[in-house]
Amino acid sequence: MVLIDSIVARQILNGQGEPTVETILKLSSGEELRASVPSGRTKSSYEAIELYDKDFAKYFGRSVEHAVESINNIIAPRIKRLDPTEQSKVDQILLELDGTPNKAHLGSNVTLAVSVVVARAAAKVKDKPFYSYINELFIKTKAKNQYDEDINLTGDAIKPQLPIPGFSLINGGSHASSTDLTIQEFLVFPVGVDKMADKIRAGVEILNTLKKLCRDTFNSGELGDEGALAPPRIADPMQAMEIISQAVKKSGYDRNNRVVYGFDIAGAEIPAEFYSRVFSMYPVLTVEDPYKEDDWDKFTKMHKTYPDLFVTGDDLTATQLKRLYTAIKSEAIDSVMVKPNQAGTLTETLQFAKVAKDAGMALYAAHRSGETSDTFIVDLAVGIGAKFLKAGAPFGGERVAKYNHLMDVAVYFES
Ligand code: PGA
Ligand code: ZN
Repeated sequence: MVLIDSIVARQILNGQGEPTVETILKLSSGEELRASVPSGRTKSSYEAIELYDKDFAKYFGRSVEHAVESINNIIAPRIKRLDPTEQSKVDQILLELDGTPNKAHLGSNVTLAVSVVVARAAAKVKDKPFYSYINELFIKTKAKNQYDEDINLTGDAIKPQLPIPGFSLINGGSHASSTDLTIQEFLVFPVGVDKMADKIRAGVEILNTLKKLCRDTFNSGELGDEGALAPPRIADPMQAMEIISQAVKKSGYDRNNRVVYGFDIAGAEIPAEFYSRVFSMYPVLTVEDPYKEDDWDKFTKMHKTYPDLFVTGDDLTATQLKRLYTAIKSEAIDSVMVKPNQAGTLTETLQFAKVAKDAGMALYAAHRSGETSDTFIVDLAVGIGAKFLKAGAPFGGERVAKYNHLMDVAVYFES
């Protein structure tokens, strides 16, 4: 039997130039696997806690030397010699070593970096594509619904599936200091484009066309945190939609709803009048976090008012089961962000996804604004059969890595 021979961690940088954790796992068969974890800038107050050194002499307090030490000195001795295919056992050890409800002791950056590298090692041992092994774990993962009954998903609900990518075109809010737009993300989803490679081509062509339009109109090629454009001197979201739709038209994707739109409002205050205007003028697929993370009633009202819209919870639900149960009971949303680092372990992420699917919600897997070149989020999205995937603008190595991997995985589904 192939076992975990060693696991070591080190500090690397994410795409924002901030330190993060990388784990390197060696199997007894000699193979070596790696994982690294992202970090979000606009966090929910309900998500699991990341651990930073807070030594302001280094990286403005953001170094992760303690996190690295706790993997090397506390976790590694407990995980060594275990069978990597026992994911729930490994995750249980991580939960016990942490001992808090929100990973405040070890840090979710520590627990997730270990959890993911173990899963990747197990996929290697089983000689399966990573998405397919995650799907196997998803099927096996035990989860309970809001009435404390065991969930047993069958049929299409447990099949791996290619998600529709949502490309970030314009960044605003806390993801872009150069612009006055308060909406964090304006996205485009190529729902009417057939093959994955062509969906990605649509995203790239629209974004490059928009870049040129922003240069010509605003004399700006400024980018936000997720690689999308962040033009200054633009504060009206309808003006942003206008220039986006021009880019869509110019690049030839305007007919037959080949692309539709999405927003991550990230809880910014937006006049209700914006929604009625934008929905009457453009096909809108989803609105994420239209209100603040505790405004349950407002979410429910929006969900009831616009039954064809995917109202998505991100900071609202924070990949936390308790919050998801509340969302189900209050009928606040019909789509939910799945962000593994909000949960902290793979098992908890899979449980969350299973409960949401069982409740009929669309799963929307997402990267974070501070990403590494790790492509785990793609395998997770496919493995849990997510309907949507958000991985930022297709510019910049850490995001392009995801889109390239998505095209790679698509080969299994489309050939
Ligand atoms: P974050 O933002 O990764 O900075 O938290 C992404 C989002 O809100 O979806
Ligand atoms: Zn969000």
